[in-house]
Amino acid sequence: MIDRRTFLEFLGKGTVGALFVPSFLAGCTPGKWETIVPIAPASADRILMATGLSYELLIKWGDPISETDQFGFNNDLTACLPFDPAQPTDGILWVNHEYIHSGFVSGYWGKGEKTREQVEQEMYAVGGTIVRIRQQRNGKWEIVENDPLNRRITGKTDIPFQWPTPIYGRTSAMGTLANCSGGVTPWGTILTCEENYDSFYGERNRETGERNPGADKWYTHFDNPPEHYGWVVEVDPKTGAAKKHVALGRCAHESATVSTLPDGRVVVYSGDDANNQCLYKFIASEPHSLEKGTLYVANLEEGKWVPVDFASQPVLQARFLDQTEVLIRLREAAPLLGGTPLDRPEDVEIDPHTGAVLVSLTNNYGKNNYYGSILKIEEEGGDHAALRFQHSTLLAGGPETGFACPDNMAFDAAGNLWFTSDISGTMMHKEPYEDFKNNALFVVPRAGAQAGQVLRIAVAPVDAEFSGPWFAPDGRTLFLSVQHPGENSGRPTTLTSHWPDGGEAIPRPAVITIRGAALDALQRATE
Ligand code: FEO
Ligand code: CA
Ligand code: CA
Repeated sequence: MIDRRTFLEFLGKGTVGALFVPSFLAGCTPGKWETIVPIAPASADRILMATGLSYELLIKWGDPISETDQFGFNNDLTACLPFDPAQPTDGILWVNHEYIHSGFVSGYWGKGEKTREQVEQEMYAVGGTIVRIRQQRNGKWEIVENDPLNRRITGKTDIPFQWPTPIYGRTSAMGTLANCSGGVTPWGTILTCEENYDSFYGERNRETGERNPGADKWYTHFDNPPEHYGWVVEVDPKTGAAKKHVALGRCAHESATVSTLPDGRVVVYSGDDANNQCLYKFIASEPHSLEKGTLYVANLEEGKWVPVDFASQPVLQARFLDQTEVLIRLREAAPLLGGTPLDRPEDVEIDPHTGAVLVSLTNNYGKNNYYGSILKIEEEGGDHAALRFQHSTLLAGGPETGFACPDNMAFDAAGNLWFTSDISGTMMHKEPYEDFKNNALFVVPRAGAQAGQVLRIAVAPVDAEFSGPWFAPDGRTLFLSVQHPGENSGRPTTLTSHWPDGGEAIPRPAVITIRGAALDALQRATE
């Protein structure tokens, strides 16, 4: 169990000195929210917020974004970019759409085989949404309907591979799917990660060539190769142009978190979210580009990044045909190189004050790790291109800290750590998770009287998880996904949630915006 003092030392508070106060708050006088009163675990079918915070619904599944397109299902990453950096109230919002609940999306409740039309409905529900958003004078963010930027990327959008040779015979893939978390590049594009891709087209066994069936079985109508999914996809939100970056490898990418080096090259961190899978980083070899570079896998025992490189690794040459096959079979290559198996590495975020790299390790039932933790990686010399690092546990979940199963994280401009929990729908409210109740949003203040405390400040509706937290350019709004409310609804007559519409309505995943004096005060707190 880590105590508060140790946590602050881990954050590097002692070396940073006075904390940064965002410019928009520099002239503010302290408000009444000197302390945040955390809220108790709850199991209601509604969103609960700590005093001093409030939320508004921005967009939900099925809402029109243009005359031809609608918002997709099970939204995750939200990334709000300024349309014009001089106008923080005018933004472009990218939202990931991860997976589907067939009953809600296509009316398939598990009997017989899906029709082609049902599969196409499901293909439309995943991928991503781009919408122009504006903040009104009263502070409320709204979708700009029919803005020329508004568009969908779906499971049927043709997306080329960024790679010199075809991937399983084709130079492009049909669609993107399983879009979980991701990141943004310094040149203003979105990185969207294809996480549990095997649910849709299964996975091919390398030795036998047989396909392991996925839950959704889209291949019964669209025989696309499984190898076309599991990539980091870059999208230009102003044009919708997309490409799949083969150089970053193929696995259940949860996220793609970008750091920019002084020479303009970028480093991308990404976890493979499954039990006993690895953490990776890609170091680009050219500025402002992800097309070329070296992929590394983390060996925590020796504190080193190992290149996933066919040309220099005899152990890879002995098993694979070439670098293309190594990248397609990244999960099989990593253990050969000494990659450390981790307990479901999900989101990665970089501490804006210290440069430390935080990794959510959600859980690992096979190792009796039910509560998860947040791992801290400190690169040698604070250099994200370094090939040596040290690691430690920043925060451990459990009854003492009051959270379980950390997933997505975000730092605000003042360096407070925000994170969400993802206790799975099948395990929520069951041993050993009963006391945690519904999933929640937490904040760990960096300064002030509550520095280092883990504060539960919002609770999600039934079966849902909060995901994809992202701060608006001015830091005063937190965009947040409410994903899979009512996921355990087995039939249309036994709905477990009616959020957000209430009554007898079916549940709908949605994006909310959180604002309030408490959020502002958190970013104002100093030592
Ligand atoms: Fe899509 Fe690992 O959460
Ligand atoms: Ca996640
Ligand atoms: Ca998760």
